[in-house]
Amino acid sequence: MKILLTGVSGQLGHALQKQLAGAHTLITPTRAQMDLSQPWQIEDTIRSVRPDLIINPAAYTAVDLAESEPELALQINAVAPAVMAAEAKALGIGLIHYSTDYVFDGGKADADGNWLAYTEQDRTAPLNVYGETKLAGEQAIRASGCAHLIFRTSWVYSLHGKNFLLTMLKLASERDQLRVVDDQWGVPNSADWLASVSVEILAQAGAASSSPRWWQEFSGLYHLSASGRTNWCEFARSIMRNAEKLGLLQTAAPQITGIASSEYPTAARRPQNSLLNSACLQQRFNVLLPDWEQNLRRCLQKMQTQRPLQDVVN
Ligand SMILES: NC(=O)c1ccc[n+]([C@@H]2O[C@H](COP(=O)([O-])OP(=O)(O)OC[C@H]3O[C@@H](n4cnc5c(N)ncnc54)[C@H](OP(=O)(O)O)[C@@H]3O)[C@@H](O)[C@H]2O)c1
Repeated sequence: MKILLTGVSGQLGHALQKQLAGAHTLITPTRAQMDLSQPWQIEDTIRSVRPDLIINPAAYTAVDLAESEPELALQINAVAPAVMAAEAKALGIGLIHYSTDYVFDGGKADADGNWLAYTEQDRTAPLNVYGETKLAGEQAIRASGCAHLIFRTSWVYSLHGKNFLLTMLKLASERDQLRVVDDQWGVPNSADWLASVSVEILAQAGAASSSPRWWQEFSGLYHLSASGRTNWCEFARSIMRNAEKLGLLQTAAPQITGIASSEYPTAARRPQNSLLNSACLQQRFNVLLPDWEQNLRRCLQKMQTQRPLQDVVN
C-alpha cells in the first residue's frame, strides 16, 4: 500500500514509520516539503502522490504555547485534517488521525468523587486552545464523510522527541529532588505501543482501496489507551524505579515529592481526569490493552540497547 505519513520527526510518526516501513511504500514529507499550516501544500501533495491511505500523527502539540498561537494551532490541528479528509473523500481512501484526552474538561466522576474514564459518547468540553483545536479537527473529519479512524489517546512518551519520560530521565541526572504534580490522573501511552495497535488495526483493514466495506463498518472515533491509571507524580516515580532496576541511571534516583497543580502554574489549563475508556476499541478490533507500566518497562528496556541514557540527556 502507498501511505502518506505525516509528522515522522515526532514521537508517534517516528514509531509508525519504523513499524510500517517494511510492508508498505511510505511517503513521509517533512515540514519543509508539506507545511501543515498551508492548506494548498497539503492538497498539492495528496493530489500528486495519490496515496492509498493517509496517516496523520502530526499536530501542533505545544499545549501552553497554543494559548498565544491559537490561529496557528487551529490551522495545523483542525484545518489541515479537514483538507486531508476532503482529499481522502475525493480519492475514496481512508484517513487515520490521532486526537487527545484534552477534548474533555476532566470532571467526570462518580457520586463519591472517584474519577471515571471517558467513553467516546461523553460530552467534550476542552479547557485549553490545544484541546479546542484538536476537537475541531475531529469534527471536521467526521463531517467530511471520508472513511476514517480517529484514535484519541493520552500522555504520549517515547525514546524519541520531547516528552515527560525523557524530561524526567534528564532531570534525574541533574537533581536529587523533584516536585511533580499529583492531582492530574491519566494513563501514559508509549508511542511504540500506539503505533503497533494502529498497524494491527490497519492489517485488519487490508488494502484500503480494496476494503471499502471494512471502512464502512469500522470508520469512527475510538479511545486508544493502555489500562490502569496513575498521576504524573506516580508516573515519575515509576520511571525512576524501573530505570534504576534496569541499571539505566548514572546517579541515585532523585526523591520525588507530589505537589498540587496550583503549585505549578501553566499557561494552559489541564484536565484533572484524563482517563480514557478503550473498551469499544478492544471489543471491535480485538486488541489487547496492557497495563501502562508494562509498556513503560518495555520502552525502558529498549533504552538499554537502542538509545543509551547519555544520548537522551545530552
Ligand atoms: N504528546 C502527547 O502527550 C499527546 C497526548 C495525546 C494525544 N496526542 C496526539 O497524538 C499525536 C502524536 O503526538 P506526538 O506526541 O507524536 O507529537 P510530536 O512528537 O509533538 O510530533 C508532532 C509532529 O508534527 C509535526 N508538525 C507540527 N507542525 C507541523 C507543520 N506546520 N507542518 C508539518 N509538520 C508539522 C512535527 O514536525 P516538526 O518536527 O517539523 O515540528 C512533528 O513531526 C498528535 O495528534 C497529538 O495531538 C499527543
